[in-house]
Amino acid sequence: MKPTFAKPGLPGTGVVVVFAVKGPTLLATGKKLDEKTGGILTRAMRGNRFDGSKGQTLDVLAPAETRLDRVLIVGLGKAADDIDDLAMQNLGGTIFTNVRRAKSGKAALALDTIPDSKLSVPNIAAQIAFGVRLRSYRFDKYRTKEKEDAKPSIKSVTIHCAGDANARKAYKTLDQIADGVFFTRDLVSEPANIIYPETLANEAKSLAKLGVKVQVLGEAQMKKLGMGSLLGVGQGSARESKLVVMEWKGGKQTKSKSDLPIAFVGKGVTFDTGGISIKPASGMEDMKWDMGGSAVVIGLMKALAGRKAKVNAVGVVGLVENMPSSTAQRPGDVVTSMSGQTIEVINTDAEGRLVLADALWYCKERFKPKFMINLATLTGAIIVSLGSRHAGLFSNNDTLAERIAEAGKAVDELMWRMPLHEDYDKMINSEIADMQNIGGRGAGSITAAQFLQRFVDKTPWAHMDIAGVTWSKTDAPTVPKGGTAFGVRLLDRLVTDYYEGK
Ligand code: BES
Ligand code: MN
Ligand code: ZN
Repeated sequence: MKPTFAKPGLPGTGVVVVFAVKGPTLLATGKKLDEKTGGILTRAMRGNRFDGSKGQTLDVLAPAETRLDRVLIVGLGKAADDIDDLAMQNLGGTIFTNVRRAKSGKAALALDTIPDSKLSVPNIAAQIAFGVRLRSYRFDKYRTKEKEDAKPSIKSVTIHCAGDANARKAYKTLDQIADGVFFTRDLVSEPANIIYPETLANEAKSLAKLGVKVQVLGEAQMKKLGMGSLLGVGQGSARESKLVVMEWKGGKQTKSKSDLPIAFVGKGVTFDTGGISIKPASGMEDMKWDMGGSAVVIGLMKALAGRKAKVNAVGVVGLVENMPSSTAQRPGDVVTSMSGQTIEVINTDAEGRLVLADALWYCKERFKPKFMINLATLTGAIIVSLGSRHAGLFSNNDTLAERIAEAGKAVDELMWRMPLHEDYDKMINSEIADMQNIGGRGAGSITAAQFLQRFVDKTPWAHMDIAGVTWSKTDAPTVPKGGTAFGVRLLDRLVTDYYEGK
């Protein structure tokens, strides 16, 4: 559902949304409607403890003297304190959930001038629209028997405001970001019989129409490059492993160091059974979204290309299926990574780091990027540590880590920095190889990060462990339950704030 913008004024039928600031004080359109209806809105607010607090909503049904189905009054809070980008996005999400069942299929918002607001009306309109669109996401392609009236009936949300042309313009970029978010959510939601390395690579190829250069390496090419670590994970699967390289060249094209690309690397395990170290049956279906890191990288590249970001960015995703079979790798096998370092595979379920080891090394060798950020649903231990509000952040570079954390705050995708230390690094030393793929009992997320760090050399690098935030069991204002696409908005924001045209 794509919201649209129009000049001030409201239709006489259907659902209309008016706003009130803390008090409650209705904005101009609400006030007018209130007068016209003999004070119905005022009476409803007073009778229902509606004081205009941020996010409060109040329904007034079929008000007399009008032909409207509903008037939804929405609280903005104290204009000077409560109105910011995030709050307006959340409000948009809340409004969407309140109007999605409108029989007329239409909702019109009256966004009047808001005294004391720091944000301009067109900007507020664009942010509300962004929230509406983000919350409207639904993955329903496999629900063939759903009744028409069980589905959301809303077809259009129109925001009426002064400066609607400016609102439209501000929203355009946000809409491209939402396209990236939706692409990621779709990919994460697809089951593993539909999305496997080859089909996921094909989805990435679709970015070519936006000007992204996409290259797909198969097993033969990866073997030639010496990617024994990644290939070992996929060797038990009937599906061929793939490595996808995406390049968006929106920045200057010179040989100068300052024009080197920034790089994003994703774990793309299209299904993680655990391999021979097989997982328990209960909840294993969740492992269809073990390609979440790669989906974020692909969605991010879509957003950057869609909005024509002035940056050179590379996306590298390692795509494998981790299956048990007679050709699967065994616990105790030793593999040689592209870096030349050897790895003893103690547990075949610690496979994400094996995939990233070669993807990170390849990315670094080929592109000499300014930095590499990898995303991975890497460890269950990060869920034990942080639950599902913050994702884990590990980095060898304080500036990069701080920028990522700041960008996360700006878009409400929160990161929590975790430590790296050589004493944790020792926990993955092996008796017979350069390292083993698991540590001891404790610090599971840290030893996983230490493992990755052995494949980045001196490159500024950050690892985002998104195992706890990739899939949500509850609705949030701009993120319906299911695939969240956590990371797309954060990294887009990181690019905007620190790396575009710089
Ligand atoms: N994909 C899992 C991590 C995971 C678990 C993601 C739950 C999302 C939800 C990863 O490949 C894995 O299996 N990690 C093991 C590592 C262990 C064997 C050292 C884990 O966390 O149990
Ligand atoms: Mn695993
Ligand atoms: Zn995994």
